[in-house]
Amino acid sequence: MNSWNQAFRAATMITVSLIGLSGCGSGSTSSAVSTTTVTATTSSTVQVPDNIPDTPTGVSAVGGTNKITLSWNAVTGAASYSIYWSAVPGVATTTGTRIDSTGTFLIQRGLPPLDTRYYIVTSRNKSGESGVSAQVFAGTAALDGAAPYNTFCAVCHGSLITSTVTSGRVTAIKTAIQNINLMNDLTLTDAQITAISAALMDNN
Ligand code: HEC
Repeated sequence: MNSWNQAFRAATMITVSLIGLSGCGSGSTSSAVSTTTVTATTSSTVQVPDNIPDTPTGVSAVGGTNKITLSWNAVTGAASYSIYWSAVPGVATTTGTRIDSTGTFLIQRGLPPLDTRYYIVTSRNKSGESGVSAQVFAGTAALDGAAPYNTFCAVCHGSLITSTVTSGRVTAIKTAIQNINLMNDLTLTDAQITAISAALMDNN
């Protein structure tokens, strides 16, 4: 027997066995078979893994001059975080003002002195939003640098929140007042410069 013959015989056997299989299937109730197949396909498509990230922990709020700094631990699998704040305790996702962040901290700047805020944090990814963290709160200091900044600096450097001043240190402000012609006319007390500096620091 040559190899062509062998191949032909093998093909014939396969054809026969396929016919045998389909014959077997058509012998049973076809509607029952097709129903089973559709159900299996549908249920495997619906199975989406639950990937909602964990609730953030380690949330901390620290008050400063005209600002509050909030930070928390990174959550594995989180794409971003939502911070909800309120002036009254018991803040919830439905009542708080929401701010989103991709990093693990948030600085709220330009706040009035002696301003207390309450915060909760959630984590998010495309599967959804986690549960809410424990609530934390902090208050801004009594010192007010925002008011003198708005009076003396905002006209040229913009609002405190987006100030173009790159070095908010007391010495840098004093040097600028001495050396930059447009600032020479400024007459500020040390207390005002200290307060402005405190409000500007971390603004870099
Ligand atoms: C009339 C406009 C004007 C006012 C008002 C003004 N500045 Fe400036 N300031 C400038 C200019 C112009 C420069 C130099 C260019 C630059 O760095 O923006 C400058 C530079 C600076 C610098 C050095 C560079 C830097 O960004 O760190 C500091 C610090 C600074 N200003 C702080 C202040 C503070 C604080 C106040 C308010 C007390 C103030 N300035 C008010 C115009 C002004």
